[in-house]
Amino acid sequence: MTGLPLLEIKNLRKSYGAVKAVNDVSIHINRGEIAGMIGPNGSGKSTFFDCSTGLAKPDTGTVKLDGQDITGWSLNRIAREGRMLRSFQKTVVFKSLDVEENLIIAGQMFTFPSLWSTFGLGRMSRQRVSGLRERARELIKMAGLWDVRHQPAGNLSGGQQKLIQFASMLMPEPKLILLDEPMAGINPKIIERVVDTILYANKSLGVSFLVIEHNIDVVTSICQRVIVLDQGQKLVEGLPQDIIQDQRVREAYLGG
Ligand SMILES: Nc1ncnc2c1ncn2[C@@H]1O[C@H](COP(=O)(O)OP(=O)(O)O)[C@@H](O)[C@H]1O
Ligand SMILES: [Mg+2]
Repeated sequence: MTGLPLLEIKNLRKSYGAVKAVNDVSIHINRGEIAGMIGPNGSGKSTFFDCSTGLAKPDTGTVKLDGQDITGWSLNRIAREGRMLRSFQKTVVFKSLDVEENLIIAGQMFTFPSLWSTFGLGRMSRQRVSGLRERARELIKMAGLWDVRHQPAGNLSGGQQKLIQFASMLMPEPKLILLDEPMAGINPKIIERVVDTILYANKSLGVSFLVIEHNIDVVTSICQRVIVLDQGQKLVEGLPQDIIQDQRVREAYLGG
């Protein structure tokens, strides 16, 4: 553990044709931090995530995780070796498996390549599954899914599936999670649950976060620092209470 940032991104650029989606953005995320990223639609937030997590290759720039240069690594390698995960706006769960099975499989994802080793025989495997089951149950309780833990995920509401997806991301013990609009399209009760689960993951499990979020109440209540993108560039960054007062930020949102 050093003063080195957990994630350090320098001079990232990505163009799609004539569109400079991300135009020379540098940011860092500190260990233990929950940082927010905001900006009008089309300002480059998702593209910035894509280039940071290996889904897209940046045109130029460097991505360092825990001091290691991971620029150009694939999404899977970054998840498995770097332990940096990201979510997408679309919710993805194994619909026919129950809640607990969903989490256990997520926990296996980066260690065993085959689903069979999760549920198959073998002493090592069984021991490992029982460890994963314990962690899964802890997270299921935290996410408020205890009463439905044996139900197929496909039978549950969209909000509950979102919680399953989020709890699943915590199973492989990530260092850093990038969330792309986690609160989009979910009701206030589930928003509260997701917020609580993020805070629990941060405080009790030591996971750091970078969260793209339009819900400004959520941003101000969980983020220690907010980074604002506008037209592919970093407009400003700072404390949430300063950012929401900032004239440049207001103008960016008004299209001024
Ligand atoms: N795969 C792609 N192909 C072409 N253009 C893209 C692609 N992804 C993003 N863009 C363009 O890049 C710009 C930034 O988009 P995006 O990163 O999705 O912004 P945000 O997430 O802030 O809404 C937009 O003009 C968008 O149309
Ligand atoms: Mg987006």
